[in-house]
Amino acid sequence: MPELFSWQFATDPYPAYAWLREHAPVRWTTLPSGVGAWLVTRYADARQALADGRLSKNPVHHAGESLAKGRTGIPGERNADLMTHLLNIDPPDHTRLRRLVSKAFTPRTVAVFEPRVRELTDGFIDAFAGRGEADLIHEFAFPLPIHAICDLLGVPREDQGDFRDWAGMMVRHAVPGQGGGGTRGGVARAVKKMRAYLVELIHRKRGDLGDDLISGLIRASDHGEHLTENEAAAMAFILLFAGFETTVNLIGNGVHTLLAHPAQRAALQDSLAAGDGTLLETAVEELLRYDGPVEMATWRYATEPLEIGGRPVAAGDPVLVVLAAADRDPARFDTPDTIDLARRDNPHLGYGHGIHYCLGAPLARLEARTAFAALLTRLPDLRLAAEPDDLRWRGGLIMRGLRTLPVAFTPEARPAS
Ligand code: HEM
Repeated sequence: MPELFSWQFATDPYPAYAWLREHAPVRWTTLPSGVGAWLVTRYADARQALADGRLSKNPVHHAGESLAKGRTGIPGERNADLMTHLLNIDPPDHTRLRRLVSKAFTPRTVAVFEPRVRELTDGFIDAFAGRGEADLIHEFAFPLPIHAICDLLGVPREDQGDFRDWAGMMVRHAVPGQGGGGTRGGVARAVKKMRAYLVELIHRKRGDLGDDLISGLIRASDHGEHLTENEAAAMAFILLFAGFETTVNLIGNGVHTLLAHPAQRAALQDSLAAGDGTLLETAVEELLRYDGPVEMATWRYATEPLEIGGRPVAAGDPVLVVLAAADRDPARFDTPDTIDLARRDNPHLGYGHGIHYCLGAPLARLEARTAFAALLTRLPDLRLAAEPDDLRWRGGLIMRGLRTLPVAFTPEARPAS
């Protein structure tokens, strides 16, 4: 049995997952926090578990103490007012809230936002393009999604600095080693400030609705039902939290994979140069499958005795579906350990499956496509500026991502002004 959750495992968990898939596809494991959980690693079992209504998202169903100890991994969950978000609730509440938010957060909302994502992307690249080197995590992948989500939610520009500080604090805490700050007390204070700010902002916007997402959340109604101010604040919070670090790591892991596979990356550059976006679309999906940001889906708890992959799971047991393992299952994907940006048969689980399927997938795709296209077009000889073995991964449970991604490239000539 390979060692799980070690430093080597954080660097490359895939051999351990291959072993689990083959020898112990549904395995009871004690996590570094001391909490026990079933790890589900085969694609078929994973897909079934993600859609199984007997697996609840509500931590009250945990037979242990995860709720009391705030171990579900999302900062602020101990702040009861923010608890009622989509990833913590089951039908019928989930159905009602998801329907309401879906009215505000539509693919059209995202499409209209595309020029702003391009502008942000170019702005961050402008800041380092003349220098010939950069840390793509800190200077690009980290700031892009938080600026995007602030704009999308409708956080006024003058408040965005504070908002970004609180969000950064929460993510740095969830990710030990990502910069300074982030003690438990500091995170609790940041979450509290963000909640108070969101409630106040929602209140302010109620009298002056715009075309931003928070206004959309206030406006959304379903058979005469609206979100309460607390529900709207919790919704804005989960949109921010679910959409921030995931996008940082989708860009970071994706660029890392592209730099490590020059032939694939050259094919993508050629197709972009020819003005063809088809390969870019399949590439974003393949990068998610091959080394996606969400290593495990969020916690689920058995509400009754059941079986997963033939193993009995007791009521109250936590279940973690390992998306990274399922998406490399040879029973579902041809040559799963090979990256093929043109892969067409690719029903990966990187965005989850079932009723909790990622609500932000259209935005994530837009940000990823824009980021990869801009980087590869503007910095065509982008290369890793570190030994691959020296790169450090963050080692969290749910998320997978790099701490830094040092790159070098020929400096972009400044346009003559
Ligand atoms: C960048 C890549 C992203 C990935 C790989 C990703 C992945 C996921 C996954 C795997 C789930 C399901 C979790 C589970 O079932 O336990 C999920 C749910 C969710 N995601 Fe994403 N996500 C991404 C970006 C975003 C963005 C940008 C947003 C919003 C701005 C977002 C908002 C959400 C929300 C609200 C849920 C909960 C949906 C529900 O419970 O009904 N995500 N995401």
